[in-house]
Amino acid sequence: MELRQLGHDGPHITRLTFGAWPIAGGLGAVDDAAAMQTIRCALDLGITAIDTAEGYRTSEAILGRALSGRPRDQVYLATKVSREPFTRARVREALENSLRALEMEYVDLYQLHRYPSSVPLAEAIGALAELQASGKARHVGVSNFTVEQLAAARRIHPIQSIQPRLNIFDAEAARDLLPYCARENVGAIVHSPLAKGLLTGKYRPGDRFPPDDERSGFPRFQGETFARYLAAAYRMSEIAREKGATLVQLAIAWTLAQPGVTSCIVGAKTPEQVDEQVGGVALRQRLGEDDLRRIAEIARMAA
Ligand SMILES: NC(=O)c1ccc[n+]([C@@H]2O[C@H](COP(=O)([O-])OP(=O)(O)OC[C@H]3O[C@@H](n4cnc5c(N)ncnc54)[C@H](OP(=O)(O)O)[C@@H]3O)[C@@H](O)[C@H]2O)c1
Repeated sequence: MELRQLGHDGPHITRLTFGAWPIAGGLGAVDDAAAMQTIRCALDLGITAIDTAEGYRTSEAILGRALSGRPRDQVYLATKVSREPFTRARVREALENSLRALEMEYVDLYQLHRYPSSVPLAEAIGALAELQASGKARHVGVSNFTVEQLAAARRIHPIQSIQPRLNIFDAEAARDLLPYCARENVGAIVHSPLAKGLLTGKYRPGDRFPPDDERSGFPRFQGETFARYLAAAYRMSEIAREKGATLVQLAIAWTLAQPGVTSCIVGAKTPEQVDEQVGGVALRQRLGEDDLRRIAEIARMAA
């Protein structure tokens, strides 16, 4: 799999990162065996970067079991502190818990899940800096920060990467955050490229999600809004067909085509889903300016 360097001095990581929220049931129940097979399939297909979080239910423990026995340097493992307050003590304790669940001695990237709401930024970033100095986190990063918040964090300590949402329907990060990352050489590992399933072609208007699936509570997956997004997705799938690809692959290729993106984090529940996603990396080379313009026009329909 194609690699990209993370930030100006980070390691080279795969352009797809395995997103480990769905295997822990975040988008509906997934049994243990399917979760294990899905992680192993991703590794077998060459996806060696993995993203998880303290807040992703049992995700870290599932990964710990799936990765047990593999040489540690064969995966690039990123996790996050999710539960606030992001005080020094809480962040330190959260990383210890994550390391125990992951059965690891260090993580490659440790991130704040969001901008701290109840402690000063300097305290939260200072906590990350201490963990990096201890060697338990090789690099540190942030997630869901604005460009101003990222710049403020970088004035406190070197920040290796940011994790914003980015997909055809949620392109805000491409306006100012990703150009800033490209200019400043900050890594960008973007999340939710399939808009949590809207960009897969498998859903129809009126489809409902079980209560344990986070989408059951998202306005985008209800009623007329859902139908409007699906209509736009259907038109995108026509572009995908012209390219001999699927909508999933087109959505991933579009994300990878945005300047400044180091890697895109895709969630999956089955080996077949991962297998299809991998085709998006090669499709990126066949997406031209004209395709990107057509996709942007259709996306405006849904907004
Ligand atoms: N930092 C943050 O705040 C944040 C927020 C969200 C996500 N993330 C990270 O980003 C990762 C990706 O986001 P996400 O998992 O929420 O959403 P996503 O990648 O946009 O969508 C993943 C879902 O799409 C469906 N799917 C995937 N491949 C498919 C295929 N080939 N065919 C049909 N359906 C397919 C699956 O759900 P169904 O089969 O049920 O439709 C899968 O669970 C997460 O796992 C997490 O690591 C981070």
